[in-house]
Amino acid sequence: MKSAVRIAITGAAGNIGYAAAFRVAAGNMLGTDQPIILQLIEIPPALGALEGVKMELCDCAFPLLEDIICTADANVGFKDVDYVLSIGSKPRTKGMERADLLSENGKIFGPQGKAINDNASRDVKVLVVGNPANTNALIAANNAPDLDMRQFTSMMRLDHNRAISQLSSKTNTPVTKIKQMIVWGNHSLSQYPDISHCKVDGKDAKSLVDDSWYKEEFMPRVQKRGAEVINARGASSAASAASAAIDHMRSWVIGTDGDDWVSMGIISKGDYGIAEGLMYSFPVRCKNGNYEVVQGLSIDDFSQKMMKATENELLEEREAVKDLL
Ligand code: NAD
Ligand code: LMR
Repeated sequence: MKSAVRIAITGAAGNIGYAAAFRVAAGNMLGTDQPIILQLIEIPPALGALEGVKMELCDCAFPLLEDIICTADANVGFKDVDYVLSIGSKPRTKGMERADLLSENGKIFGPQGKAINDNASRDVKVLVVGNPANTNALIAANNAPDLDMRQFTSMMRLDHNRAISQLSSKTNTPVTKIKQMIVWGNHSLSQYPDISHCKVDGKDAKSLVDDSWYKEEFMPRVQKRGAEVINARGASSAASAASAAIDHMRSWVIGTDGDDWVSMGIISKGDYGIAEGLMYSFPVRCKNGNYEVVQGLSIDDFSQKMMKATENELLEEREAVKDLL
């Protein structure tokens, strides 16, 4: 039997945290042979609700779940953790853009990066979900000087999964047959869902759909899906976000399939001409707990323009939080 790993979930009494904790404890993230200790972090007013989450987790009698720690102290919550799902922060409401959350949520991620730096395992893998996720992850990474910035990532997997789902229903093809999707850039309206390299059951995706459907229906649908869910549900996506967080971590730890890749927000090293040091989503392949940007993809003029636009937005966000970096 493997020894237990420690997984921190911030905002664990919130909507996404609640949806994620049970699936993580069931083994969906790291496999059904990996015992787990959950370290659940909340703000003090939510500690009562967090106790309720703990009771329910206990009541599931999950075979893999060895212990549950509940705390409002980040130094306790991140102690020795191997994995962090950094979710705790405010969601947007109707009519807001995610960047409108930056002034309020941004200040959470500096202290959190520092607490991870000071307490977590030296090999910790961090996924930031709280919006605006890319720039929050950038803040956390910049406040963890003893860790490698590559250990901090931001969630683009929900956008990636949304893009696969839309193309699957348009082409009437199972999601499992859709490979090499990319969503570049920021988890925002400026993101670029790109099917230029995508294969649908082995065929080029672009040969199967009209350019007008691609640019006028598919792209805006994926870009605006978060708002569409908020309008329908009256609250932002929660179960799909938790599922994407689990997918992101599982790919990172266990690896991507064959020649396929996934979209992850990672620190740019200048690949594809994107400014170094931005938290930007690239297509990556994962193996043995590491990820590498997929190299050598051809980028046409349209893609170039879209990739630049989302890069420019991230440059502006970085400038807006420069005091927190
Ligand atoms: P929620 O309001 O239901 O829950 C947030 C929880 O975080 C609350 O329980 C709150 O008490 C807690 N919290 C706030 N500040 C905290 C802190 N400093 N430390 C620990 N916990 C803290 O919100 P939600 O629906 O779970 O969404 C959480 C975040 O995830 C939001 O910012 C939302 O916009 C974002 N989100 C991102 C994606 C993505 O794809 N990147 C998708 C969906 C939602
Ligand atoms: C999403 O994409 O569903 C989340 O980022 C929540 C939001 O504010 O749209």
